[in-house]
Amino acid sequence: MRTTAVLAVSLGLSGLSALAHAENTELGKEVFTQISQPSCTICHALSDAGSAGAIGPDLDNLKPSREQVINAVTQGVGVMPAFEGSLSAEQIQALADYILSVTSGQN
Ligand code: HEC
Repeated sequence: MRTTAVLAVSLGLSGLSALAHAENTELGKEVFTQISQPSCTICHALSDAGSAGAIGPDLDNLKPSREQVINAVTQGVGVMPAFEGSLSAEQIQALADYILSVTSGQN
């Protein structure tokens, strides 16, 4: 924590937000591959996560918007279960940050 704070101060404001963003996408990847139950990887292909699930759409091709990710994960869609009860709002935001950062270059 202390190192992070010192680093953030020395990088200035834009560095600070880049650092926060990097932490978020890292958390998002963890949620995608490990924390979500059932894991997103079982059903979705996403090359950055090394997953090849083929039950749901290939996310590299779909390039979902932030809204699509948040809605699908929160409420479920078709046979995809809702994760509202098992993932926090923060984890779902981080998931969206992560998926957008590896599929569309946006964040
Ligand atoms: C049991 C399999 C399964 C799991 C687990 C699963 N999905 Fe899905 N997902 C699907 C299917 C099937 C669809 C397509 C549903 C449809 O369009 O009827 C889908 C659709 C989506 C979509 C597109 C929504 C849209 O608007 O078209 C996104 C984004 C998505 N999933 C992300 C995720 C993420 C992130 C996770 C992990 C938290 C996850 N999914 C877990 C099966 C799954």
